[in-house]
Amino acid sequence: AGLAAVAVAGTAFSLPTDAKGDKAGAATNTATLNIPDLLEGTTSDGTTTFTLTAQTGTHEVLCGVTSDTAGYNGSFLGPTMKWTTGSTVLLNITNDLDADTSVHFHGAHIPPDMDGGPQNAFAAGETWSPTFEILDEAKTLWYHPHALGTTAEQVAHGLAGLIIAEDETDASAALPSEYGVDDIPIVPQCPATDAAGDIKYDLNGYLRNTLSFPVLCNGTNVDDTTPTFTATRTRTRFRVLNASPSDIITVQRGDGGTLTQIATEQGCLTEATEVETIRPVAGGRAEFVMDLSDAVTLQAVITTGWVRGGSGTFDFLTVTPDASDTPDDLPSSLNTIERYDTSSFTAQEITLDQDGLEMAINGAVGTTMDSMATIMTTLGSQEIWTITDNTMREHSFHLHDVPFQLIEINGAESAGVDLGWFDTYEVVGGGSIKIAMEFTDFADDTYMYMLHCHLLQHEDEGMMAGLMVMES
Ligand code: C2O
Ligand code: CU
Repeated sequence: AGLAAVAVAGTAFSLPTDAKGDKAGAATNTATLNIPDLLEGTTSDGTTTFTLTAQTGTHEVLCGVTSDTAGYNGSFLGPTMKWTTGSTVLLNITNDLDADTSVHFHGAHIPPDMDGGPQNAFAAGETWSPTFEILDEAKTLWYHPHALGTTAEQVAHGLAGLIIAEDETDASAALPSEYGVDDIPIVPQCPATDAAGDIKYDLNGYLRNTLSFPVLCNGTNVDDTTPTFTATRTRTRFRVLNASPSDIITVQRGDGGTLTQIATEQGCLTEATEVETIRPVAGGRAEFVMDLSDAVTLQAVITTGWVRGGSGTFDFLTVTPDASDTPDDLPSSLNTIERYDTSSFTAQEITLDQDGLEMAINGAVGTTMDSMATIMTTLGSQEIWTITDNTMREHSFHLHDVPFQLIEINGAESAGVDLGWFDTYEVVGGGSIKIAMEFTDFADDTYMYMLHCHLLQHEDEGMMAGLMVMES
């Protein structure tokens, strides 16, 4: 049976008996957490220039097996960039792969011709040099390929990196921000491989029980090794990026304690919020802090992902404190978020559709620029979109260009940390979300932004549309 025949809504799969199940407490080895390098830029005349090369390499994805992989400036994943609000960046990005690629700055509010979507794809051997001003406030962004039809393949092989946007607000000054010391990226990923370690990205036609689904933390397979981080400051900030091709990844403390969430993917919450779990969908991010007195093991609970099926809990990262400082209380206010009054907003309806193996938005299969639906809007427009799933399958809805507020989730008013700013959010099988946004700053009648499912196989199969913002 092909995968489509067994893929049904929700999380109801049971794992094949030989698949990876619960691994909490099972790892026997430890290794120091791998922290992606910070990419040094060179700054002159207010412009910071970064150099990236997308290249192939090899990496141990399955324990003891070498896989062909890809990364930026290395074999797997990429370095972290810091962008400062109000500055200008220039990126020189060389394609050393053997295929077209593009580099999308996921979550950044930048002009559509710099956004790195499919229209910005460039060929092997070429260099693409986008430049733009950083309008984003402090938040966690990321970069990854976005060429038509190859996004799942390229991201699953390892092409993904973090971007930290930083600003000079009091809240930012009060939060831990020394990269690699008390500001730590954690990037969970669950690629699929065959027994030989070949990374699979188009899973149609595979039987899940012939594949392995390793769980990686910053590139380290946690099946037999739990990465450890020694915290030299009592308070540590963690930025979680779910760079997985298809899974929702819930992060929780192994001891049942709470995490202090400070930010969603588009910046700080109004106030630090105690949560039992953070739950970024594929492409999503979240930030939390922990004030550590004893060692804490973080667990990753992998759910859904129509590709992976089933769920499992994995010891993912052990944080061991080696500090004696006493941090100040967190500021009582981290951010001001004015909630939209959407009563006069322009409404648009977006449907997530499927016909066999073809995925679609508003009925149009978005595998080419010509076939995809184009959502039209104008500069300055304030809109409320209802995104409805007609496929009875789980999706991770992502909008380029501007952050959105969640107004309703499956008919219920959003609450708690869902009152933060987002660019990627879950749409459950048969469910719907209402989101509101304002299209500011950038209009273009040639280049489009994209909206799509961030389950990357769905994106490549056509669940993608263009967004054209015209001068009003
Ligand atoms: Cu993270 Cu359109 O992508
Ligand atoms: Cu999807």
